[in-house]
Amino acid sequence: MTTKQKLVDLLESAEGEFFSGNRLAEKLGITRAAVWKNIRQLKGEGYKIEAVTNRGYRLEKEHDVVSEAGIRRALGELADVFTLEVHDVVTSTNTVLKEKADSLPEWAAVISGSQTAGRGRIGRSFYSPSDTGIYLSVLLRPSLPAAEAVRITTAAAVAACRAIEECSEAVPKIKWVNDVFVDGKKVCGILTEGSLNMETGGLDWAVMGIGMNVYEPEDGFPEEIRQVAGAIEQQRKKNLRNLLAASFLRQFYGICSCLPAAAFAEEYRKRSFLLGKDVLVLKGETAVPARVLEIDDDCRLVVRYENDLQEALSSGEVSIRLEENRKESFE
Ligand code: BTN
Repeated sequence: MTTKQKLVDLLESAEGEFFSGNRLAEKLGITRAAVWKNIRQLKGEGYKIEAVTNRGYRLEKEHDVVSEAGIRRALGELADVFTLEVHDVVTSTNTVLKEKADSLPEWAAVISGSQTAGRGRIGRSFYSPSDTGIYLSVLLRPSLPAAEAVRITTAAAVAACRAIEECSEAVPKIKWVNDVFVDGKKVCGILTEGSLNMETGGLDWAVMGIGMNVYEPEDGFPEEIRQVAGAIEQQRKKNLRNLLAASFLRQFYGICSCLPAAAFAEEYRKRSFLLGKDVLVLKGETAVPARVLEIDDDCRLVVRYENDLQEALSSGEVSIRLEENRKESFE
């Protein structure tokens, strides 16, 4: 463990009380000047540390700084599986990882506390402010036909639900195909991108990227997404973003490595909230009313239109909007 990490641990152990510079120096076996230098670096990394003459240093009790050390520690014995690259800010974790995909091993992950050019599905942007979310991309080399790549997205949605349950009191639900909701608001989005191998019809690599709104930004979400976007937690919690990132990575690794596809599809279905709901199927400019009948083992959404025709929808082709205000029903 680095001196900086030991310093964070000591300050944390004081639970928001002051720790004198002398005691810190003694415990760490370094000079007071070295303590100060490390404190300065930690502040630069985003830790809110108060320094008061004759009292010492105090770390904000509910500090939640995204850090490689914090994520590694929470990963426990799985830490060696992942090649981690952790940033305060990047353009987009998906973009960064895609650029390096050919030279990195499977399970390389780029994680950031914010993004300046976060990307969503269908060319949309993804709001990724600093200090309140976590943005994470993982490199996979799956032996899957490209047509089945949607499984990666659905595995990630299940892993995100498990991670949210493990780290918070929130009750997550999946909105087919790639959104996780809490209390009717979207808290996670997932974007999987890949490189198609034209000879085999498989994927050379896939980059699965997930963004989690952990807390609501101080000034609320921007107007354009205020109706839809929500957060996992209402109050800041110590280390929550690192814990969520690590828990997600553990769960995602577990699902991708072990579970038979059908068992995992069953969990995806159980966690989905669109089953039986009336929706609008958005194909380009057209919105067609339909009722959701099931999600099949290939994770397609099976819907029935008002003219009784059924269709199994694949992700990418359509967007789904809940049609809660529509009065008439069509059994
Ligand atoms: C969506 O809801 O449309 C998908 C959003 C995916 C956002 C994540 S954040 C981490 C990764 N990097 C990106 O630029 N996008 C994904």
